[in-house]
This record gives sequence, structure tokens and C-alpha cells, in this order.
Amino acid sequence: MPAKKITTACLRARKNSGERIIMLTAYDATFAKLLDDSGVDVLLVGDSLGMVIQGHQNTIPVTVEDIIYHTKCVARGPKRAHIMADMPFMSYQASIDHAMINAGRCLKEGGAESVKLEGGEELLETVSALTSSGIPVCAHIGLRPQTIHQMGGYKIQGKTSYSADKLISEAKMFEEAGAFMLLLEGIVAEIAFEITKSVNIPTVGISSGSGCDGQVLVIYDLLGMDKDFNPRYVKKYANLHETITGAVKNYISDVKEGEFPSEEHSFHRELQVIRSAKCNL
Ligand code: KIV
Repeated sequence: MPAKKITTACLRARKNSGERIIMLTAYDATFAKLLDDSGVDVLLVGDSLGMVIQGHQNTIPVTVEDIIYHTKCVARGPKRAHIMADMPFMSYQASIDHAMINAGRCLKEGGAESVKLEGGEELLETVSALTSSGIPVCAHIGLRPQTIHQMGGYKIQGKTSYSADKLISEAKMFEEAGAFMLLLEGIVAEIAFEITKSVNIPTVGISSGSGCDGQVLVIYDLLGMDKDFNPRYVKKYANLHETITGAVKNYISDVKEGEFPSEEHSFHRELQVIRSAKCNL
């Protein structure tokens, strides 16, 4: 039986069922299929691709074209997972029209099923306009990497009562504006939990403790691809840095020593004739 597609309605229903939402980033079809096969609910085509795929220092340089390209790749893989496209810096802030056009492109051209955008009160009208037009929105609050230059670094939010109250009120306002989900990044655990209890839409957390309705991580972090990236909020479930460099070193040595390709990996005229004859049977 084909896997049941995860829709925004399914994700909203998790708020009451209590089943946690599992979200991971994906940037290409191969990973999208692997994560879908593993049972991940939401594949986020995150603007983190600017760092882990493109090698930038932060997410600011990512363009709408980049997100659409990677969303197209991701959308070809999975059968079950929901596909969410991350709206990049300055693709939705300038005006509601601009946001509508770019979010619409993520759905129409990219194949996304929802969009995520980072923001606060200033974006309520935009979220309301998008959702009224049929574009499901996940609002990303707390630590917002796109505002790194304004924040002066990646800083945990909600430490003061002013900041905590502001986050709780933003969460409620985004729910009212029509957001179907909230992404809470870099928020102290107690406040992320309080936000989760204060709204009727699901929250998905990253570096925000365990009190959210779901969790998200950057897939390369979970897999331990970068040995020098070890923030407190990441749990590495594999050490692919070691696995990959080990495999590649073995390949280098085999090629240098003449061990690869061996007979086993080579073709000969007689073999090819037999193979093509079998194919024609
Ligand atoms: O771009 C991204 O990968 C994200 C996650 C860190 C939540 O926004």
C-alpha cells in the first residue's frame, strides 16, 4: 500500500495526537528519498544550503532561484514527506506582492507544499496574505539566522522577560494570521515550551529544548559531515566525516596501487556479448 502523504492537515493534527513531528533539511533527490524512506515527516529545503552546499559563511547570499532549484530536486524524491521551501533573505520582506510572487514560485515551479519565513510582527500581514491565497506558511521565530548582521551573531532568545513575552505574543499573532506551524529556533527551553502550550498550531524546535511538538536538524549536522562543527544543540547520529574520508582514502590507495579497477570491475568483449544476449531473452 502506498505511504499516506503528509499534508498540512496531518501536521496540524499532530498538535492534538501528541505524535511528534520529525523534520530534517534536504537539498537533493537522493537525500530526500533516503529521509522519506526513513519516515521523516517534513523535508525542509532550508536556506542553510547557503552554508552546507554553497560554502558561504551565512544564509544571506541564498537566492529564490537557489531555493527553487533545490526544491525541485527534493520534490522528485519522496512519496510521503511534506516538502517545505525556505524563503531566502529579501525574497519576502520588501512587500507583500514580492512575497506572494516568490512564495508562489516555490510552490508552482519548485513543487513545495508550504513555505517557511523568518520574522516577527512586521510580517503578520504578509503571512495573512499568503495563507489567504492558499500558500501554507510556517513562521520561524526566535533566533533568525537571516538577521545575523542585526543581531551581531547567533544569540539564544527569550532570556529576558521582555524577549520571552515578545516571542509568546509573536507566536500567538502568527497563529491568528493563519500560519499552520511555528519553527522555534534558539529559544530557551522554558519559553519554547510555554509558546508550545500557548498556541493551537504545532511547534517544531531547533536548539529550543525538548518541549516543542516536533524537532528539526540540518541533515549534514545529524550525520556528522563536518568534524569542526560541534554546537551544543546538535547530536551526531553518525560520523560521516570519518566514514567518507576513510572510504575515499581507500579508493586513492587502491587506484595508486593498481588494485582498482580489478578484473571484477572490468568488461571484456566476450562478457559483453553474453550480457547483451541475456538482455534480449
Ligand atoms: O535553513 C534551515 O536549515 C533552517 C533550519 C535550521 C531550521 O531554517
